[in-house]
Amino acid sequence: MTTNASIKIDDKEISLPIMVGSEGEKAVDARNLRKDTGYIFYDQGYGNTGSCESSVTYLDGENGVLRHRGYPIDQLAEHSDFIETAYLVIYGELPNEKKRKEFGALLRTNAVIETQMQRIFEGFPKDAPPMAMLSSIANSLAAYYPELATNNFEKDLQNFDLAAAMAISKIRTIGAMIYRHSKGLPFVHPKDLPFCDNFLHMMFSEPYQDYVVIPEVAKALNLLLLMHADHEQNCSTSTVRMVGSSGANLFTSISAGINALSGPLHGGANAAVMHMLQSIHDEGDDGTRFIAAAKSGTKGNRLMGFGHAVYRNFDPRAKVIGAACDVVLKKLGKSDPLLDIAKNLEQAALKDDYFVSRKLYPNVDFYSGIIFRALGIPTSMFTVMFAIGRAPGWIANWREVASNAKGRIYRPRQIYVGPTQRDYVPISKRA
Ligand code: SDX
Repeated sequence: MTTNASIKIDDKEISLPIMVGSEGEKAVDARNLRKDTGYIFYDQGYGNTGSCESSVTYLDGENGVLRHRGYPIDQLAEHSDFIETAYLVIYGELPNEKKRKEFGALLRTNAVIETQMQRIFEGFPKDAPPMAMLSSIANSLAAYYPELATNNFEKDLQNFDLAAAMAISKIRTIGAMIYRHSKGLPFVHPKDLPFCDNFLHMMFSEPYQDYVVIPEVAKALNLLLLMHADHEQNCSTSTVRMVGSSGANLFTSISAGINALSGPLHGGANAAVMHMLQSIHDEGDDGTRFIAAAKSGTKGNRLMGFGHAVYRNFDPRAKVIGAACDVVLKKLGKSDPLLDIAKNLEQAALKDDYFVSRKLYPNVDFYSGIIFRALGIPTSMFTVMFAIGRAPGWIANWREVASNAKGRIYRPRQIYVGPTQRDYVPISKRA
C-alpha cells in the first residue's frame, strides 16, 4: 500500500504523505507542498481537491452510492423520516426514542417567527425572489438571537443544540411565510404538529379553515426533504464551511449556503427542470429540441436535472424520487403530463451517445419537482424546499468546522494572470 507520493519538480524530488479515508478514498496530503516546493496545485472548481475530512456523508460517484453516517440513502428513504435523518446527519447516530422525542419537541417549540422579525417581510415586494428573501431572513436569525450567534466557536457550540433546532425549524417556517407573502395572504401561526404537517398547515391553512393534511402528502414531503438532507461537499455546503471557517456563526454561515444553493446549476435546477418540461409540453414537443440544444454544450442549454459534478452513474436519489412519483400521484389521485414527458426525456437521453459518453444521468432535481407540484407547492418555491431539506447537512458541516480544534480559515491560493508591475500614469497623460 503506497504511503507516500513522490513529486519531482526542478530536479528536486519531494515526498507527500498519502491519506486514506474509512471508505478507502485516497488523497495526496499537499498541506506542505508550497512550503517545500514553492508550487501549488491548480484545480479549477476543486473537482480533484479535498477541502476537509468529514464524517457526515460518503458519496461514490462512479457507483452511485450515497450514505449518511454509514446508512444507505435507500434504507433511510424506506425506513426513516426527515427529522430522524436530520438528527442522524447532525449528531452522527440514529436517535433513540427519548432523543427523538426531545429533538421533535425542540423543533416544535422553536417553530414560530417572532412578530418583530415578521416585519422584515414588509420590506420585500410580493414578487421578490424567494431565495433572496430566504437568505436575508435566515441571516437575520443572527440579529434576533445574538446569544446563539456570538461568532465565538466555544460559546456558539455550547448553544449548538438550540441553534441547530432553531435553524431547521425556523427556516421551514420562513419558507412557508415567503409563500404566504408572495400570495398576499396573512401568515399562519405554527401549531403543535409534526414538522411536515406544520409546514403544510403554515402554507395552506386559511384563517377559519385549517388545511387538512393528507398522510400521503406529509409522507411524500418527508421523503423529498430527507433526500436533500446532505450531499458531501457540494457548492452550498462547501460555502457554509468556507464562511464558518472564519468563525462566523451558524445562522450567518447557513445564509451564505442558501445564496450558493440559489444558482441554476445547483439548487435552482429543480425549478429549471419544471420550466423545461412545461415548455416541452406547451410546444407539443417530444423533448427532441431540448436534447439537441443540450448537446450544443453551452451552459445555457443544458438538460436541467441531468448530469452531476460527482455522480458518473445514476444519482441514487433520482432513482428513489423517480419511483415515488408514480406512487404519490396515484395516492393523490392525480396525473401530471410532465411526468410522462420527463420519463420520455430520460429514456431518449439515456440512449443518446452524447449523454452516455459523458456519463450524464438524471440527478436529484430531475423528478423532485413533479412531486412538489403534486403537493401543491409552486415552482417558485422549489429551491426554498431544497434549502429546507439541506439545512441538516449545512448544520452538520458547520459543526465539524467549529469543533475542529486544528481547523484553519479556508483560504485557497490562485495563479495570477493579470498585468505585471507597471508605474502609475497621471490622468492627464492617459489615452
Ligand atoms: C445539484 O454537488 C452536488 O452534490 C449538488 C447536488 C446536491 O445535492 O447538493 O447534487 C444538487 O446541484 C444537482 C445538479 C443540479 N444541476 C443541474 O441539473 C443543471 C444541469 N447540470 C449541469 O449543469 C452539470 O451537470 C453540473 C453543473 C451538475 C455538473 O457540472 P460539471 O461537473 O462542471 O460538468 P462538466 O461541465 O464537467 O460536464 C462535462 C461535460 C461537458 O461537455 P464537454 O465539455 O465534455 O463536451 O458534460 C456536459 C458538459 O457540457 N454536460 C451537460 C450537462 N451536464 C454536463 N450537457 C448537457 N446537459 C447537461 N445537464
